[in-house]
Amino acid sequence: MSNEAKLELDGKVFTLPTVEGSEGEKAVDVSSLRANTNYITLDDGYGNTGSCISKVTFIDGDKGVLRYRGIPIEEMAEKSNFIETAFLIIYGDLPNRPQLKKFSNLLTANQFLHEDMKFHFEGFPTGAHPMAILSAMINAASCFDEGLMNWKWGKNTEFDVYVARLISQVRTIAAYSYRKSKGLPLIYPKQNYKYTANFLHMMFSMPYEDFEIKPEVVKALDLIFLLHADHEQNCSTSTVRMVASSQANLFASCAAGVCALWGPLHGGANQAVLEMLEDIHRSGDDGSKFITAAKDKNSGKKLMGFGHRVYKNHDPRATIIKKACDDVLAKLNISDPLLDIAKKLEEAALKDSYFVERKLYPNVDFYSGIIMRAIGIPMEMFTVIFAIGRMPGWIANYKEIMDEPKSRIYRPRQIYTGRTINNYVPLEARK
Ligand code: COA
Repeated sequence: MSNEAKLELDGKVFTLPTVEGSEGEKAVDVSSLRANTNYITLDDGYGNTGSCISKVTFIDGDKGVLRYRGIPIEEMAEKSNFIETAFLIIYGDLPNRPQLKKFSNLLTANQFLHEDMKFHFEGFPTGAHPMAILSAMINAASCFDEGLMNWKWGKNTEFDVYVARLISQVRTIAAYSYRKSKGLPLIYPKQNYKYTANFLHMMFSMPYEDFEIKPEVVKALDLIFLLHADHEQNCSTSTVRMVASSQANLFASCAAGVCALWGPLHGGANQAVLEMLEDIHRSGDDGSKFITAAKDKNSGKKLMGFGHRVYKNHDPRATIIKKACDDVLAKLNISDPLLDIAKKLEEAALKDSYFVERKLYPNVDFYSGIIMRAIGIPMEMFTVIFAIGRMPGWIANYKEIMDEPKSRIYRPRQIYTGRTINNYVPLEARK
């Protein structure tokens, strides 16, 4: 098989090298195309563009496969936890006992925010969306740290400390964002609580009473973090890489990732799913009217939590989360009419030719909102939970380009279709 592609342009033939990944994924390397031909490639939405070479996460969308550093998501979900998964994603291997201990100690040592940051939370109005507070405060954290202000790209000996600081503090900031949005007093993390239990404590404890930490709730939330930990070059991860490529510091780059994640077509979909289910329930529909509307392009409605740019068979995370959803609702003895509607929608859509032909299957967001609702996470925090979970993936991608000696700034081109040369008209002469 040839490892070159031939491209004929303006009567001349150009050869382009091809690249093959460790799972047999193939690409035509067009990096020299413009220099040799004066043409660029055009790929709206980047559906055919590989922006980088990466060793972190593998997805086969046609087969419904997702692996972190080679390990299937199903194995990680069954046997691991979020913190171990974070280490695997960022550093490339599962930690041994001393490595895990060291990582865990670093997380605990770095969980407190600088005290002066509390005043920044006070500046936000009650009711501000926690995603806005989260991205602003992750970025603001840079101002409280000399190392981040004077970031040494690729040479930062303290990188491991900043990794732990970001993973640990994003959880503290996230909980504070919620407390602030509700006008509640801030609750400090506890030294003896593990990662996910501590988040629940900071979210729901009161100064006069600790929140009861139920193991099944911790398990369900930890699983949600783990399932979101990385997903290769999605919109927010590509954003982090884009910002990182300018050599911005780790916190600034990941704050940009939070903004990209906020939109309803990306991380905001979990909130949108629940809003959709609530609307359906309120209107007395069992889901059938909504399915009809979702197929009509003029209705402005979509079946949120369905469809994926990459998965065209099933989203393996959705399978895991659907089961976890049934388990946790049974354990907590909750019956939720929204879950019944979700199941009806799924059943109807999977039989409907519109969804089948377009290969639209439930994605991770379809059931995660129902679990979060069952364990008491408020709806406006759903996307924040996704952001906490996605942090290891963003950091691993940041590290990957920082460690690459030949990294260069991301700078796509465009095809300009605006006016050609045009002259300035003085104000008094304009119509
Ligand atoms: N409900 C109804 N129709 C949908 C749909 C949905 N959730 N998702 C895609 N479609 C339709 C599109 O309208 C399009 O139809 P057409 O071919 O007749 O024009 C076709 O399916 C292909 O969709 P497209 O928008 O090209 O897919 P995409 O890869 O650009 O977008 C998503 C992927 C995820 C953004 C899209 O499926 C979506 O908006 N889903 C709902 C939001 C969501 O759950 N996001 C979370 C992703 S993890």
